[in-house]
Amino acid sequence: MMSTFRTIDLALIGLGAVHRNVLRILEERAPVLAQRHGLAFRVVCAADSSGVAINPSGFEPAALRRFKEEGGRICELEGFLPSTTPAAALSTLACDLVLEASPVNLATGEPGLSVVRAALRRGVSVVLANKGPLALAYRELHALAAASGAKLAFSATVCGALPVINIGRRDLIAAEIFSLRGVFNATTNFILAEVASGRSYADALAEAQRRGIAERDPRLDVEGWDTACKLVILANSVLRIDAALADVSVQGIVDVTPKALAQAAQRGETIKLLASAERTQNGYALSVRPTAIDAHSFLGQCSGWEMGVEIESDLYGRMHYKIWEREPLPTAAAMVRDAVNLMEKDE
Ligand SMILES: NC(=O)c1ccc[n+]([C@@H]2O[C@H](COP(=O)([O-])OP(=O)(O)OC[C@H]3O[C@@H](n4cnc5c(N)ncnc54)[C@H](OP(=O)(O)O)[C@@H]3O)[C@@H](O)[C@H]2O)c1
Repeated sequence: MMSTFRTIDLALIGLGAVHRNVLRILEERAPVLAQRHGLAFRVVCAADSSGVAINPSGFEPAALRRFKEEGGRICELEGFLPSTTPAAALSTLACDLVLEASPVNLATGEPGLSVVRAALRRGVSVVLANKGPLALAYRELHALAAASGAKLAFSATVCGALPVINIGRRDLIAAEIFSLRGVFNATTNFILAEVASGRSYADALAEAQRRGIAERDPRLDVEGWDTACKLVILANSVLRIDAALADVSVQGIVDVTPKALAQAAQRGETIKLLASAERTQNGYALSVRPTAIDAHSFLGQCSGWEMGVEIESDLYGRMHYKIWEREPLPTAAAMVRDAVNLMEKDE
C-alpha cells in the first residue's frame, strides 16, 4: 500500500458515454488508484459540445457525471470559458494529462485532432478513445510526442478494453507478423447476429445506440469506417507500417441480407465484418469487408457483443484474444488503465 500519492490534473474532452464512465471509475475507485498506484486524479478541465470549463481545484467526478446525465451543458457551469475551444484552452492550461473522447470525425479529425496537437506540443500526455486523430495523423502525432517528450496512449481505440495494442507492441518482440485478422466492431457484429436470428436491422441498431456502443454517427459502424480506423491504428502501432485509411479497401454491412446470412449458416459459415492485414511481398494488404467464415473458427465464434483478434507470427504461433463488451464501461476502464500506466512511468 502506498502512503503518499501524486495528484494528476486531468482535462476531459467529451463527456458522453465513455467519459461519464471514466468519471464513475474515478469516483468509485479513487481509494484503489491511490493505494495501488499512488495516484489521485483531479478533473481541472471539462469540455462538451457547448464549450469548455476550468476549475483549478477540480470538478467533483460524481457531481459532474450526474450533471451531464441529467442533461446539463458545460456552458452552464461556473468556470465556463466563452468563445474558447478545448484546443485553445489546452494551449495554456496547467494540466498533466488530457483524456480525449469526443466523436470520431474522419473529414477533419476535429475537435480531437487540434486537442491532441495542442497538448502534445506543450509536452502534455494524451490518452485517446477517439480513433479519428490517430486514423488521420498517426505519424504526425507520434512525431509531436517524441519532440516534446509527451506520451500518447490509445489502448481504448481498438476493440474497447481488449488490450490488443498493448499485446501487439509489448509481447511480440522480434516477431514477423504474417497476418492479423479481427472482428473489431461490436455494433456490426451484434447487428449481423440479430438479423441472422430474425430481428430487423433497424431494431438491432437501435439497441446498440441505446447501450452507448454505436458511434454517434452509426454510418461509421455499418459502412465499415470504424473498423478501418482500428485496422489503420493496428497497422501503424503493431505491424509498424505507415498506413492510412486510403490504404484500406473498405466495405460495410449495409448490403448483407438476411438471405445471405441464412445461406452462410446452411454452409456451416457465418458472415462477419472482418478486418484483415495479410503479409505480401511489399508490405500488407489491408481490407475490411463482410466475409463468410467457418462458424466454428475462433473469429466465427465471436458472436453478438464480442470482438476478437487473431494474430499469426513466425515466433509466437497463432494467438487469439476476445472480449465481450456490451456497455462503454470497459472502454472507460481502458482509458484509466492507460492513464495509470503513463503517469506511473512518468514519475
Ligand atoms: N462508446 C463506446 O463503447 C466506445 C468504445 C471505444 C471508443 N469509443 C470512442 O470514444 C469517443 C466517445 O464515445 P462516446 O460513446 O462517449 O460518445 P458520445 O456519447 O457521443 O459522447 C461524445 C461527447 O463529445 C462531446 N462533443 C461533441 N462535440 C464536441 C466538441 N466540439 N468539443 C468537445 N466535446 C464535444 C459531446 O458533447 P455533448 O454532451 O454536448 O453532446 C459528448 O459529451 C468516440 O470517439 C468513440 O469512437 C467509444
